[in-house]
Amino acid sequence: MPATTLDQLVSLCKRRGFVFPSSEIYGGLQGVFDWGPLGVELKNNIIASWWRANVYERDDMEGLDAAILMNRLTWRYSGHEETFNDPLVDCRDCKSRWRADHIKGRCPNCGSTNLTEPRPFNMMFKTAVGPVADADSFAYLRPETAQGIFVNFGNVLATSSRKLPFGIAQVGKAFRNEINPRNFLFRVREFEQMEIEYFVMPGTEDEWHQRWLDDRLAWWESIGVPRERIRMYDVPPDELAHYSKRTFDLMYNYPTLGYEEVEGIASRTDYDLGSHSRDQETLNLTARTNPNRDSTARLTYYDPESKRHVVPFVIEPSAGVGRCFLAVLAEAYDEQMVKAPPAERIGAVTDALDAFLKSVGRSEKLAPETRDALLERGQAIREGLPETMPQIETLLAMPGADQIELGKKLRGQAQGLIDEYFRTVLHLKPHLAPVRVAVFPLKRNHEGLVAMARDLRRTIQTGSSFRTVYDDTGAIGRLYRRQDEIGTPYCVTVDFQSLEDGTVTVRDRDTMQQVRIPASEVRAYVGG
Ligand code: GAP
Repeated sequence: MPATTLDQLVSLCKRRGFVFPSSEIYGGLQGVFDWGPLGVELKNNIIASWWRANVYERDDMEGLDAAILMNRLTWRYSGHEETFNDPLVDCRDCKSRWRADHIKGRCPNCGSTNLTEPRPFNMMFKTAVGPVADADSFAYLRPETAQGIFVNFGNVLATSSRKLPFGIAQVGKAFRNEINPRNFLFRVREFEQMEIEYFVMPGTEDEWHQRWLDDRLAWWESIGVPRERIRMYDVPPDELAHYSKRTFDLMYNYPTLGYEEVEGIASRTDYDLGSHSRDQETLNLTARTNPNRDSTARLTYYDPESKRHVVPFVIEPSAGVGRCFLAVLAEAYDEQMVKAPPAERIGAVTDALDAFLKSVGRSEKLAPETRDALLERGQAIREGLPETMPQIETLLAMPGADQIELGKKLRGQAQGLIDEYFRTVLHLKPHLAPVRVAVFPLKRNHEGLVAMARDLRRTIQTGSSFRTVYDDTGAIGRLYRRQDEIGTPYCVTVDFQSLEDGTVTVRDRDTMQQVRIPASEVRAYVGG
């Protein structure tokens, strides 16, 4: 059963160390998260796959890594100082603050319609550069990586001798002071973007827009997010950003959230290079830009055929790493019943769940929305038993569950059953998996087995681009389950036969089938 709720992914990320709340021991910081040991591996693999597909495997791209801090004028001429605003409203009754376009005229906290008029709120974070914080010393943390590419257009062109069309790719941090960060990694205040600015001859932008749409959808497919799970939204003219002629938003069907934007592919005309250029009046720009008296450059391209300087048009595919991470996890997530549990044990869990939910319903300690959320999830699990048994872990990790004493009893009844009869498995593409290979000795107190397993781990790891780990902290069955849950495609076991003939067993994550092969062939077997 694939992920049906965002909570399942939140719970897995917490349980297995993919993602932690930032500065958690001090109560966290809203809308900011840290990547844990497994999260950083998966995230880096996603970024590496994007870079490989968009830079190495094409012959029309260069890479860039521009600084987060930029001259403030960048944001004046990009239009962000003036237009990077969200409409903000305050609830006059409970004093909470919301994005007007997210709440349909009613406060989600207290239900009041007594709201202030929407007013613009600029989402850029400010910081001071240098020891004296005065009116001239401030800079913004970039709210997108794109501008770092535009202002470097001339530098890249001059040093790479590229001809149009060509693009520049960049991955990096962006910061937005979101009014209401929410839904885990989906809307946060510090995040990473993977952005391409692709420069084309004016007049060819529609053709390239379509080509990039196709190329990007193919990449999503290659990382395990199939075409049929993405809806293409052709943004209507009245919703377009100020720089855009046309934008295709790729909307992924997130569990709980439904279809939401994971990537935007915008056709930005000559707005960006034009805006950052001096002498705009000589450039025949089609976009409306603010006159620029500060730039020292004309960001143009000399077209040898027409012998004219032109301002290239831009196609921009821009994806968020965190939203991509969530989509990849949601697609890969699976809870499987490995064998049917005995009826009396299912009955015992059902009784414990009923008692827990009754206690939730009666509890006066819980806020009404916390109680309703627990009851709703609990009922859905109850109706789906026994297949939904593993979701009891998610239920017990939800806010408020730890305040219900009977939760302990429910955990006690369910945990052993889940461990024995179910598995959570991430069917991640092998090139994305945080760990590609896990090596175990059949017995952890046998010197020969341990030495061979450790040696094999080192041999597989050396010189490879993926991670291989050694583990001997449990019985083999338990180790398999732990690796399934983090998406490790191959588990290798060193047993007594290995000591005699040098072979090992390799277990496949998805089929759970094992093959016996010489240890020396494992590296090639798992994909070099
Ligand atoms: N340069 C164009 C640009 O920044 P955008 O639609 O504002 O366009 C691009 O952002 C992508 O960045 C989005 O599709 C989304 O994946 C990601 N993104 C934007 N704001 C985000 C936020 N607050 N939290 C997480 N990801 C975000």
